[in-house]
Formats: sequence, C-alpha cells, structure tokens
Amino acid sequence: KHCILIGAPVDSGKRRAGCLMGPDAYRTAGLAEALTDLGHTVEDLGNLTPASHPTEPGDSHLHQPSKTVGWTHRLIRTAEETMPRGLPIFLGGDHALALGSVAGVANHAAKEERPLFVLWLDAHSDFHTPETSGSGNLHGTPLGYVTGRGGFAGFPVVTNPVPQENICIIGLRSVDNAERDALQNSQIRFHDMREIDESGIAKPLAAFLETVAEHNGLLHVSLDVDFLDPSIAPAVGTTVPGGATIREGHLAMEMICDSGLMTSLDLVELNPFLDERGRTAQVMVDLAASSLGRRVFDRPTRSFL
Ligand code: ARG
Ligand code: MN
Ligand code: MN
Ligand code: MN
Repeated sequence: KHCILIGAPVDSGKRRAGCLMGPDAYRTAGLAEALTDLGHTVEDLGNLTPASHPTEPGDSHLHQPSKTVGWTHRLIRTAEETMPRGLPIFLGGDHALALGSVAGVANHAAKEERPLFVLWLDAHSDFHTPETSGSGNLHGTPLGYVTGRGGFAGFPVVTNPVPQENICIIGLRSVDNAERDALQNSQIRFHDMREIDESGIAKPLAAFLETVAEHNGLLHVSLDVDFLDPSIAPAVGTTVPGGATIREGHLAMEMICDSGLMTSLDLVELNPFLDERGRTAQVMVDLAASSLGRRVFDRPTRSFL
C-alpha cells in the first residue's frame, strides 16, 4: 500500500490543549518506519494548517468553532486529494479532525460510486450536534456532522452524508443523555463495553466487516485513544475506565487488516503532554501497524537485558 501520513494538529475540538503535538509524537514513535518495515511505501505530507477562517464569535457556547470550520475545510480537501492515490492516515489532533477526514473521504466514495462505511473505535459516541453538546467541545460532534444532523451553521455543507446504517461504534462507555436518545433512534450499530465483555470484540466486528465486503464498500477507521483502557493509554484528556485491552485492540486491528477493506484511518485524541515516556504514542503506532499487516510473530522483540 501507499500510506500517506497527514499531520492534522487539530486542538480546537476541546478546551484542554496538547493534541497539537500528536503528529510529531507518532513520528517520534516510529510510525513511518513501522509501515516501511511492513513493505508499504510512506509519504509524509507534514503538518497541515487550518484554512483561513473568521475570528471566533464572542457569544458562542462552542469552543473555537471558527478554527474547527477552518480545519474542516482543509481536511475535506486533503482527504479528497489523497484518497485517489493511497491510504491516508490522519495523525491527530483531536477527534474534531474527523468532521473533515470523514466528510472528505465520503466525497471520494461518492465519486467512485461506492458506499462508505465508518468504524468508530471510541469510549464516546461523538454523535452530538452543536446544539445538543453540553460541553461545547466539537470533538464530541463528528458523527453528528458526517451523518448530516442539523445545527452545524457555518460549517461546510455535508455533500455526501454517511448513512447511519453504514456506521459501527465499538467501545462505548460514556454517552451523554442527548446522544443516547439520538443514537437509540438511529440505524447506527453500536456495541458497548458490556457487550464486548460478554461476547468478545471479534463477533460484532466480523459482522460489520462482512457487511462492508458484501457492499463492496470503502472503510474508514477512526481510532480514538480513549477506546483503550487508560491503564495502557493514559495520554488522552477524556479517559474513561474500563476500556479495550491491548489484546482487544490488536485483535480488532488484525481483523481489519485481514479483511483487506480499510481505505483510510484516523489516529486521534493523543495528547502527548499527558503521556508517560511515550507509551501511548507507541501503543497507537503498534495498533496502526497491526491494521496494516504486522502479526504477532512480527512484533518487535523485547530485550530483557
Ligand atoms: N460527550 C462528551 C462531550 O460532548 C465527550 C466527547 C469526547 N469526545 C472525544 N472525541 N474524546 O463533551
Ligand atoms: Mn483549544
Ligand atoms: Mn472520539
Ligand atoms: Mn472518545
């Protein structure tokens, strides 16, 4: 595969700063080298900047909506530009980057006349609209935006909304009331941690991947650091206890690889300011490598010297 690394230091999607350092943390943790070792070619576009945008409104309950609009414009274009020539990997940045990455990928899928499917690995459903968001943090809204929910005044019009039934969320354990009602009345497939505990992660994931294959779909994977348990991935502002283990994470990514379906990937919400000696950045790089072909027997050997 031709992997295109896109630094998207989006930090406007919530109040706690630090995700802007994410792209460089992934580079430092050896993402490009890991992918090259697996036989892929790697192109690094460096770090993007938001498209020009108006100054922030003084009266909004939203945090930095204008800057997020600028990022959304920039990322839609970048997704459209990179999809025809490789597998874009969006290096976040917070999850507000997915307003742009997913909307742009959806435009590409429409051009190809193929359906887009989205796998959302996250503790949260990120299904708010700006109106339902209690926090005003737009990283809680990307699935609301790309499915075409209303209330995104000032944002680019979503030309190709992702059908709700094409979305699968796995890892849920923190859903706000307004999101819960909207989610339960939607066609989105969602699997919370209780279900994962009871029946494992493989079952719902395999079912979803099968649907994607049946429809000859494109598959966008959006991996939020907080999908993982904070004990193995502490570098995120929105930790929720009881997350996926290293084993569940790798299994999911290996299954995604085996399916051969993934056409784009987000790595989001890493806040290197909160990390411990880079361990969260490393876990995310290792998971990305698993999604692109690294197997148990290929994992780097540990030295006990
Ligand atoms: N639902 C909460 C909110 O709207 C948390 C969202 C967390 N999202 C994320 N991408 N980490 O503020
Ligand atoms: Mn901010
Ligand atoms: Mn998220
Ligand atoms: Mn989350």
